[in-house]
Amino acid sequence: MEHQSPPAGLAARSARAVWHPCTRLRPDGNIPPLAIARGEGPWLIDANGQRYFDAISSWWVNLFGHANPAINAALVDQLQTLEHVMLAGCTHEPAVALAERLSALTGGALGHAFYASDGASAVEIALKMSFHYWRNTGLSAKREFVCLRDGYHGETVGALAVTDLEVFRDAYDPLTRRAHVVMSPDARQARRGETAADVAARALDELEALLRERAGQIAALIVEPLVQCAAGMAMYDPSYLEGARALCDRYRVHLIADEIAVGCGRTGTFFAWEQSRSGSQADDPARDATHAASGAEPLPAHAWPDFLCLSKGISGGYLPLSLVLSRPEIQRAFVSDDLARSFLHSHSYTGNPLACRAALATLDLFEQDGVLARNRERAQWLAEAFTPLAADARLRNARQQGMIWAADIDAAAAGTDFAVRFHRAALARGVLVRPIGHTLYVMPPYVFDAAQARWLGEQLLATLDEVSAHVTEPEPEVRRVA
Ligand SMILES: Cc1ncc(COP(=O)(O)O)c(C=O)c1O
Repeated sequence: MEHQSPPAGLAARSARAVWHPCTRLRPDGNIPPLAIARGEGPWLIDANGQRYFDAISSWWVNLFGHANPAINAALVDQLQTLEHVMLAGCTHEPAVALAERLSALTGGALGHAFYASDGASAVEIALKMSFHYWRNTGLSAKREFVCLRDGYHGETVGALAVTDLEVFRDAYDPLTRRAHVVMSPDARQARRGETAADVAARALDELEALLRERAGQIAALIVEPLVQCAAGMAMYDPSYLEGARALCDRYRVHLIADEIAVGCGRTGTFFAWEQSRSGSQADDPARDATHAASGAEPLPAHAWPDFLCLSKGISGGYLPLSLVLSRPEIQRAFVSDDLARSFLHSHSYTGNPLACRAALATLDLFEQDGVLARNRERAQWLAEAFTPLAADARLRNARQQGMIWAADIDAAAAGTDFAVRFHRAALARGVLVRPIGHTLYVMPPYVFDAAQARWLGEQLLATLDEVSAHVTEPEPEVRRVA
């Protein structure tokens, strides 16, 4: 029978049967996919027992390791209770409890979780809700959106309109209603003598110039708070977030925080947005993990964004789950007997009980294990273990935000197909990483110790030595998929 074929053949069967995401189909044949048999903590294990350290959390989703016992147990329990029921006209405990707990983490500033499955669908929901809100409040001319240069918000047609990465967007441009693109606050753009905050101030000036001119037509600005991950882990000063909030208030434009990649503790606070006010909370030793995770000391209500999108890590990396939190007044604008004023958006698996239960188990882990406080220590281990890489002459702009570390390789050292070659060479050393263009980064699950951090740093340095040794010709950077 087909499913009994030897495990070694799984990669070949997959290449025949499965259309793999974000993968070029090369005429001369593809690199076979890595056939994974099981997972254990930060490790992925293939059919031959070869172990790979999942240094990118399986596309930024996994928080507490693979096959986590606590999340497994919650799911087994949920499986025996209720696997699924539609959320239109029905409800269930996991969806309600998760919505309540997430709202509490914002101090009640945001709530009414609207559930979906993937990140891109959460973005679509936020865009549609914003436009529809303005229409319901008599401002139907507000139908344009603003995104940041190199921003990424997903690959469905609506999400592509607010995505500024040409590799994903350009082929589908004729299908989209392109958003306005404004300067990114990416700190790497600092001119001589400029700080990251100066770059953020310049970016805010450009945003203001656009809003001054077109706020009457603009529904919302969408941003990835603190780190534009798909852009190559572009990190920026938190003052941009506070400034953008103030401008959106002044010009009556919604602010959508896309925390799909940066939420759930990735940047040091549970929501990256919590650092929007002077950026000090992640570094404040007095602010312990349980406090941050339980929603104590929240930002004042007016300082939050109007919409916050969450996905990826919220289910611990177990099941597709996304959601949009919004301000109470947003939902109030949809209260009406008129069907045209209702938000008639749905997905079949909206609020799936298994996915919500995995998310509740994930939130339990944050609270019980003091994860945000312990991550400060893990972030320090990463910083120390990566010091030799940060100091390496082939790398520039070494940077870190919580549990994300990144640096850019010089074009001369990168050579051709750097990302693919680095990925393959690292696999041979037992590390799963996928550089983005010339950016080497790690975003590991929150379950490694100091020795594993050191081992990871050593493997990446050895991989760099290996792949940069053969370079003869510098090539311009092209952001490539696998
Ligand atoms: C910031 C951001 N928004 C949206 C998405 C899209 O999420 P999904 O791939 O689940 O559709 C991603 C995915 O990487 C992301 O990083």
